Formats: sequence, structure tokens, C-alpha cells
Amino acid sequence: MQASDGTDVDARIAELLDQETFAPPEEFAANALLSDPGVYAEAERDPAGWWARQAEDLDWFERWDTVLDDSEAPFYKWFEGGKLNASHNCLDRHVEAGRGDKVAFHWRGEEGEERDVTYAELLADVKRLANALRDRGIEPGDVVGIYLPMIPEVVVAMLACARIGAPHNVVFGGFAPESVRERMEFSEAKALITVDGARRKGKTAPVKAAVDGFLDSLPAIETVVVVRNAGDEAPMTDGRDVFYDEALAAADPECAAVALDAEHPLFVLYTSGSTAKPKGILHTTGGYLTGVAYTHRALFDLQPDEDVYFCSADVGWITGHSYIVYGPLANGATSVMYEGAPDYPDKDIWWELCERYGVTLFYTAPTAIRACMKWGVEYPRRHDLSKLRLLGTVGEPINPKAWVWYHVVIGGERCPIIDTWWQTETGHVLISPIPGITATKPGSATRPLPGIDAAVVDRDGNELEDGTGLLILRRPWPGMLRTLYKDPERFKETYFSKFGPTTYFVGDAARRDEDGCIWVIGRVDDVINVSGHRLSTAEVESALVSHPRVAEAAAIGQADDDTGQSICVFVTLEGDQDGDDDLVAELREHVATRIGKLARPKRIVWADDLPKTRSGKIMRRLLRDIAEGRELGDVTTLRDPSVMAELESKVASRRDDADA
Ligand code: WTA
Repeated sequence: MQASDGTDVDARIAELLDQETFAPPEEFAANALLSDPGVYAEAERDPAGWWARQAEDLDWFERWDTVLDDSEAPFYKWFEGGKLNASHNCLDRHVEAGRGDKVAFHWRGEEGEERDVTYAELLADVKRLANALRDRGIEPGDVVGIYLPMIPEVVVAMLACARIGAPHNVVFGGFAPESVRERMEFSEAKALITVDGARRKGKTAPVKAAVDGFLDSLPAIETVVVVRNAGDEAPMTDGRDVFYDEALAAADPECAAVALDAEHPLFVLYTSGSTAKPKGILHTTGGYLTGVAYTHRALFDLQPDEDVYFCSADVGWITGHSYIVYGPLANGATSVMYEGAPDYPDKDIWWELCERYGVTLFYTAPTAIRACMKWGVEYPRRHDLSKLRLLGTVGEPINPKAWVWYHVVIGGERCPIIDTWWQTETGHVLISPIPGITATKPGSATRPLPGIDAAVVDRDGNELEDGTGLLILRRPWPGMLRTLYKDPERFKETYFSKFGPTTYFVGDAARRDEDGCIWVIGRVDDVINVSGHRLSTAEVESALVSHPRVAEAAAIGQADDDTGQSICVFVTLEGDQDGDDDLVAELREHVATRIGKLARPKRIVWADDLPKTRSGKIMRRLLRDIAEGRELGDVTTLRDPSVMAELESKVASRRDDADA
């Protein structure tokens, strides 16, 4: 297979792997939105003023009095006194400016269906759904759950909530009903918007029937709106359930966007932390929208009238919230939205979509790139990808080989790559190259964006100019989480206690190199990152011990060539029972049913006992060392060192089996 310059792809990749830095491509830099490195110093001189200038690009009903109020840190407030509405900024202002016929989404269904949804069409549906929710008693501040697949209605649902000030709580469609139930319960949701059924790789799965299993136990949910999607039979409860199309048809078509305070909650999104209980990350309106709109424009170098943007994430994650819905729509972009999996109907579907819609900006996760590498260059080579002019990655560190493959095979060596570091909590990207300015290094997210103060410190908080330590953020930013929903104490404790009340503790380890570039290594807490999806060890363990045969379980994230990390669990069974292959399958399925398939452990190791400290804490570091076949670290605090020898021999014999 030939690279763009006619050489062999593998040889070209090998050659480029020796190249340490990649300057912005000349042609790209010459036409880029941002090309003056002075932006960093400008923002540094007056960060609040810098963010205020970015906020001016939004449409405010009333201008703010104060840019940043830090009087009650870490409960920061941005743009106090300002009033705006996110759905107005994402829709009305574009329609009012005469761009109603512009396509917001080229939607592609799994079976090849195509639907172009314009800004005017989105707005009309959003108004009707907003009225339908209001008619059913949803008021500003009421939480509305959303459990939908990748269909345009999910965008309508989110923006309808935003229009009337009802924070949405979207749950990723891959989560099991039990995960949906607890997220609805924790957030005290009053309504749920879902589907009859969801399609996945040519099959459909009933969704409404599944959520009915828990709806009776959640009396706070008074309304369920059901989108007819897969044609599955949807059991409907009179007085509570209504079909989406019928609700829209019956609703008033006019609905003014409510002028909301800048700090009005926009959404809560549950993510995994160090305990089994997921954290409800709360984002508010003015700062979040400022941050996502600015970063989407600046980092993707968005030329709204020319570009076609495709983010392959799911709306159920923060990437979908910020960079499928709010950022692109606030900027009036045209996007591609795909319902299905990256390998369905075939492994070239993304590239087919890129060719078909003339995608110029493409954003995905390193795991997906590694999967594409494995599938082979023949899939992208089936399609014309010459319109692509910028590529992005998000969610986990990218290994240099995957970076260079992306650069050569997908980007044709013309496209800058932005490796964007951020979190559900940060709301928008904070560390990334600016494509027309920053030279990139494969594997590094490079520099904090203008206005962002990130540092790498040792355990005592001393800054490391050149070395490995913990990543921290020393200054608030507009899109930051405001609190954990209904749990301000856990918010302070998790993020603002380790290095003082105004320093945000990220939870990632990182290295800062001699050029000031940041290389994020991974989590330092009990969070596992599988294919860029966040899971907590405690969640997986609690799902496992709910199985009657499991006495105890310890989950760890193990390095994995394909998914970045994979879940490995050490399981102690009740009584003197022995585990077998059937039980492995059963336990994996049990976790999938409790949490979702994404949490299914890749590997289960039977353990008669687990390594614990004398105070009874499971020593995960040792389990990780065993699982990855490393020399064992310090075991002096271990209660019973013989446990280790036994586990080690078990894992080693397994590995021999696998090698044989
Ligand atoms: C990791 C996803 C390295 C990191 C937007 C972070 C990354 C966690 C990168 C947040 C990157 C995200 N390089 N690691 N470019 N982007 N991470 O909340 O460990 O799902 O803390 O947000 O993903 O995951 P979350």
C-alpha cells in the first residue's frame, strides 16, 4: 500500500516515528483563524478579560456585571448578572440571521437512511418539545433524563430542555437500565425522554420495555416521552407516557427562549469517580457555552460556511455534549451524525461518510484509530478523503504509532492533528495544540490553551518544570463544573482539597518536558479508561459482588494494546468453590447487565485471597504489577505475602497457556 508520496505506508510510518515534532503545515497555517502566538501572552496578561472577549461572541439577552466571582471559591461564578439561553444561541440566532436552511446535521442511519436536518427544522421541533414538556409541568430547574441513541431527536431533546431551563441528564445508550435507573434516582428526574427500541449492528433491542422495569420504582418521573425509532412494541402507561411525534403535533409551535441567569444549570452528566456511586457533574449556561463555542472554533479552525465537521463520539458522553451539540451548534457549523458502530455495515463507514458529505474536520478517540489500524489501510483507501484538513483526538493518551498512522493514512500528511486533553469536569478542552500555531509532538497534548494555568507538581505540590508528577489547574476557567449535583462536600473534597482550596486536582499523572509540553499519562485514582470510556473500579466490583457466588472482587485497569486499558478482575468465590469457564462467562454477563457492556471485564483471575494492607485495603498496585507481569514492588505493608506468590503463579500459568 502506498503513502501519499508514493512510498510504502509502513516504511513511511517508521520513518516519521523518528520525527519528534511536526510544525503546523504551511498552507494550513497561512489560512488559519489563529496564527499569532501572541494569543498566549495576551490571555495571560488578563485572563478574565480574555474570556470576556470570547463570551462576547455569544448572544446575551443581558450583559454580565462581573466576569469571574471567586469570593466563594471553589464555588466559582462566571458572567454573573448576564442572561442568555443556550438553545437561542444554538438555533434562533442562526435562523434570525437568515441561515435557517443551513444543514445542522447530515444524519446517517445504520441501514443507510439519510436525513438532513436544518437549523430551522431543529428550532421548530425544539419549540414544540419544549412546550410539550412545559405542558406536563416541567419547570426551570427540574431535571429531565434523556436515554436515546444517536438520532437527531437527542439534540432536539437536549435543546428543548435548555430552552425552558430544565437541566438535562443524558445517559449513554450503551448503559444498562440499572445504570439509567440510578442516574434518574440520584438526580430526582421528573421526566424521561427515550425510544421504543435502539438499533445496533443490524439488530434492534427494546428500550422502552426495559426502562419500564424500573419506572414504577421512580414515582418522581411523571412523564415519559417515547420516540418511535426501531418500530419495537412500546408498552405505554396512560397519563405518564406519550409518543414524541404525538406530543409535538399537539404542542404550540411558538415558544420563546427563557432568559436564564448565566449560572443557571444547563445539565448534569454522571461520570465515574473513585467510589461505586457515579458523580453528577453539574455544568451551567454562560461559562460552559463560552468555553465550548470558543474552543470548538479555535481548535478546529472552524470556517462555518465551508467546513463539514464529524465527531464520532456518542452524545451520551461529555465529548458529545460539548463537541457534537453545544459547540458546533453555537458556531452554526454543519456536522455529520452517525447512528451506528464504526464497523457497521462495514469497516469503511466513517470514510464513506467523510467522502459522501465532504468532511473537512474529523474528531475521534485513539482507541478507534488503533482499531482502524488493525483493520488495515484498505478501508480508508476505498474513499476520497482529500477534503479533510484537520484531525483531532480525545479521551486517552495516543501512542505515537497510532498518531503517525492517523497522520499518514487518514490525514495524507497535510492535516494538523490536535490531541485534546480535557474531562467531563472541565467542560471543554484545556490542553491542546492550536493548529495554526503550535508544533505538535505525537503523544503529547502540548500546551495549556490561552488563559489556562496547568502545571505538573510532585506530591507536595512543588512545580516540576521538567519531570513526571500530578496534573493540576491553578486558575478557574469558564466551562468548569460548578459542583457535584446535590453533593457540594464531595465536590470540594474530590477536586479542591489536595493542593488547597483554589487548586483543581485533575486526577491524572503527567510529564512536562523541557519545552513545556505536557504528556498526560493516565489516571492516578481508581478510574479505568477503557476505549476512552470512564469506569470506576468500585462500580465494577460492586456489580460483581452482587452476584451470589462472589465473595470479594478487586478490579484494576490493565494496559491494553487495543483499548488503552482493559478491565481485569481478581475474584474470590463464596465457600470453597472453584471457578470455571462457565462462571467466567456468567460473571462477565452479570457485569454487562448491571452496568452495560462497556464494563464487561476482559479477564477474570480466581483468587483464594486478595493482597491487602494490614488495615484491610486492597493493594491494587500489586494486582496491576501481577496482571502486567512486572516485578513486584514494595510488599512490606502486605498482610499475608504468600497471597502474592500464589496469584503470581496463577497469572503466569495463564499467560503460558495463552502463549502456547
Ligand atoms: C483522559 C473525556 C490523554 C484523562 C473528554 C482524563 C486524556 C480523562 C486525553 C477524562 C488526552 C482525556 N490525552 N488523556 N488527549 N483526553 N484523557 O471525563 O485521563 O470521559 O482525566 O472526558 O480521560 O475522561 P472523560
